[in-house]
Amino acid sequence: MSAVEIPAGLKELLQGYAVEVLRRRPADLVEFAVQHFTRTLEVQRTDPKAKRPDLRARPARRGVSFEAKPKKPNEDDEEEEEDIVSECCYIKPTACKYNRRVSVCAEPYNPDDDDDDDAEPRVVHPKTDEQRRRLQDACRDILLFKTLEQEQFSEVLDAMFEVLVKPQEHIIDQGDDGDNFYVIEKGVYDIFVQKDGVSVCVGKYDNRGSFGELALMYNTPRAATIVAVQEGALWGLDRATFHRLIVKNNAKKRRLYEAFIECVPLLKSLELSERMKIVDVLGARLFKDGERIIAQGEEADCFYIVESGEVKIMIKSKTKAGQQNNTEVEVALCSRGQYFGELALVTNKPRAASVYAVGETKCLVIDIQAFERLLGPCMDIMKRNISQYEDQLVALFGSSVDLKH
Ligand code: CMP
Ligand code: CMP
Repeated sequence: MSAVEIPAGLKELLQGYAVEVLRRRPADLVEFAVQHFTRTLEVQRTDPKAKRPDLRARPARRGVSFEAKPKKPNEDDEEEEEDIVSECCYIKPTACKYNRRVSVCAEPYNPDDDDDDDAEPRVVHPKTDEQRRRLQDACRDILLFKTLEQEQFSEVLDAMFEVLVKPQEHIIDQGDDGDNFYVIEKGVYDIFVQKDGVSVCVGKYDNRGSFGELALMYNTPRAATIVAVQEGALWGLDRATFHRLIVKNNAKKRRLYEAFIECVPLLKSLELSERMKIVDVLGARLFKDGERIIAQGEEADCFYIVESGEVKIMIKSKTKAGQQNNTEVEVALCSRGQYFGELALVTNKPRAASVYAVGETKCLVIDIQAFERLLGPCMDIMKRNISQYEDQLVALFGSSVDLKH
């Protein structure tokens, strides 16, 4: 019997389809196949480079992203800078969670040492208009993206891929190697950290935020386990693209904010390396004159440091009977180097005051998870200041106030 010749590219096409099925779990496989191969054809027509699947592309553990491997100097010269398109992927059976990366050093990754980074091919996961709109909504407030140039941000969006998750699914397991960074589109996710051999739930993400940056930034094992509480949707960003865009940008951020962060009185008690970790995860936000940054009574998810401009803290005044009325009274003004928005994070209560920009104001913003992880050593100072707020409120409204409990 003569051997059957397998047409070039067949295996990759079918594998690409299989990966998409596992990723999206469609109800109708045939209908999904039509959509999938139509998309593949469209991509081929608009981008002829995408015609030949790149067998060097390597999937990450969840089988949903593809890490572009740097080429050797004279390998495939004519294909330099080729884009990688998800539909044309190659599944390497060994790239599973048990095939562990060896390097787990705690040293921060230094992108300036990495000459190959700029030669990394660009990862593109084609998206429908509707997917792109959902992705943009999910990424709007992601702090790690806030200091990117527009061009870099577009590259990040191109490279992201949708991940649908089921209740109780482990998105990340503590101790594993880092494959992807995740942005939450919807769903609630518990955070577990091993303490003395026991897994403790230390917090949760509630329909917004992002996670999975630490292992990729510092080349360390995953520092926590993230479990979906309900059905959810995430957007993943592969390790290679995260390095090429976010980690490189962090080097710039360090140069930009190092001197300022050194001078923030609250952070003086931290080690230099701890302050730099804050710089790595912070985002910068600009506010117009009079813009409300925090609304009294709302749920809290961020902490702020004023970089330039000023903010005024306003609190709803109380009637003689102790009832809140809607007239706001100014209680404080914060300027460069001062912080606000810590109280609700420390007490786990709604925001105690509203905060408005005075003139154009720039704030550095840290999310609640990073606040809890990195600002523990500053807690005593913050608690002392909360007592000062209480005194201030007594002076203003006459009756005693307990902000802490
Ligand atoms: P990473 O270590 O890559 O994977 C687990 C992620 O959980 C981690 O990145 C953070 O994004 C997130 N996380 C949230 N809270 C914590 C915490 N208290 N300690 C460590 N990681 C946390
Ligand atoms: P938070 O309650 O998270 O949001 C409003 C912030 O205003 C609060 O944290 C404090 O950082 C800040 N603030 C400053 N002065 C006061 C005050 N007297 N009472 C309450 N909050 C104050």
